[in-house]
Amino acid sequence: MQYLLGMDLGTSGTKTVLFDRAGKALASATREYPLSQPHNGWAEQAPQDWWEAAVATLREVLDRSGVAPEAIAALGISGQMHGLVMLDEAGQVLRPCIIWADQRTGEECADITRLVGAKRLIEITANPALTGFTASKIMWVRKHEPEVFAKCRHILLPKDFLRYKLTGDFATEVSDASGMQLLDVPGRVWSAEVLGKLEIPEGWLAKVYESPEVTGHISRQAAELTGLSVKTLVVGGAGDNAAAAVGTGTVADGRAFTTIGTSGVVYAHSSQPAIDPKGRVHTFCCAVPGAWHVMGVTQGAGLSLRWLRDTSFLPEKEQAESLGRDVYNLMTDLAKQSPIGANRLLYLPYLMGERTPHLDPDCRGVFFGLSAMHGRGDLARAVMEGISYSLKDCFDILDGMGARPESMLLTGGGARSPFWRQMLSDVFGCPATTIQSSEGPALGVAILAGVGAGMYESVEKACGQMIATGEKLLPDPESHKAYAAYHGLYQKLYPALKDSFQVLKEL
Ligand code: XUL
Repeated sequence: MQYLLGMDLGTSGTKTVLFDRAGKALASATREYPLSQPHNGWAEQAPQDWWEAAVATLREVLDRSGVAPEAIAALGISGQMHGLVMLDEAGQVLRPCIIWADQRTGEECADITRLVGAKRLIEITANPALTGFTASKIMWVRKHEPEVFAKCRHILLPKDFLRYKLTGDFATEVSDASGMQLLDVPGRVWSAEVLGKLEIPEGWLAKVYESPEVTGHISRQAAELTGLSVKTLVVGGAGDNAAAAVGTGTVADGRAFTTIGTSGVVYAHSSQPAIDPKGRVHTFCCAVPGAWHVMGVTQGAGLSLRWLRDTSFLPEKEQAESLGRDVYNLMTDLAKQSPIGANRLLYLPYLMGERTPHLDPDCRGVFFGLSAMHGRGDLARAVMEGISYSLKDCFDILDGMGARPESMLLTGGGARSPFWRQMLSDVFGCPATTIQSSEGPALGVAILAGVGAGMYESVEKACGQMIATGEKLLPDPESHKAYAAYHGLYQKLYPALKDSFQVLKEL
């Protein structure tokens, strides 16, 4: 038993990677799937699409590596957090998953705050009621789709749906369960009090494990479909950010990382359940047993750049396909030709509302200062800068809570760009480091799998053996000053527009 599998169920696609025990990636496969937005602010995906992607990527990784299935000790699953998957008695999916980015549940959040009490809710779940989280989605289905709610018998998070399909077990683990707003986060168990007040049956929820614990093994049926062995164990795994923390070695106090995927996250490890009383950043259990993390979230990070790509960079998309290059590199080449400040153009990345620091599901994206002189390079640069300013807001709140790292680890798709890495280091005014492996969450859950299978003594020790840091960057003081002036103006725009976003919503 030499090998470990990590699977990451992302918002744009599922990626499966096979690792050896030193953390070296031997084979990797990715399948994309669509995101459906039936109304402004809604976001749904089909769990069946995830399952097909999981099966296809597992098969491809096994074929390409030539590794015998019996030699794979364990599998870890990571995934986009907060999504609501509802199953009936027979385990059939009842409706599309309402995913993390969905913002439809403002009214239900007000109901949750009223039923549990604002202070008590933060004491138990460590977070205020948030539209992105699962509890308000369950209440939305109860109010708007009572016929679906009546048939519901199981509620699962996205990655735990894949676990159910792979093992037949209804199980979850503390890091992802923290994002449901139903967990007692300091106590790491379901909260009978919150469940009782919201009238959600505890029997619908999965059994909660710590992230490296074994929750089951591959079922015979899944083994036939995927080519895996029934001997392969499945561990708890982690929500994508807690998994990225393990995959970057962010497993001790004083360590932090920033990731740009569809969302953007600034994450700091914490040995205590530290809570921001204003609720601007989330406090969740982390994948290291007995520890927590604090993180700020930018809702529309990579999503903003993908939106710009799909609406304004179609020629580059075609060119990239014919040259075999990544379209984002072509966009970055154009962005580099625009100076800091993008020729006085600012972008607010609120395409799907915003979490940190505004907690506002109704705000929307803005280009501010648009002029006839601006070209697509300026737009691309303004988008990258706007996302970086939003992440800087997260960074500043964590800094205020005493979680400023000596060096910020950079990971996720956005961190593949050296230009964006330097921009983040300059905007934050903080040295930055990369990780040699670019597998982030997939490596993180493979490490958890190795711990669960008994190959390593602890998560921290496994990280020490399997993770190597890469390039170090220093912030440029002149650029930091120039970005700070634009960030100051960026911070004035949301308060000036707050009421207008509400008016826009009602039009
Ligand atoms: C975290 C969050 C996102 C998703 C997307 O709270 O909502 O980072 O996990 O992957």
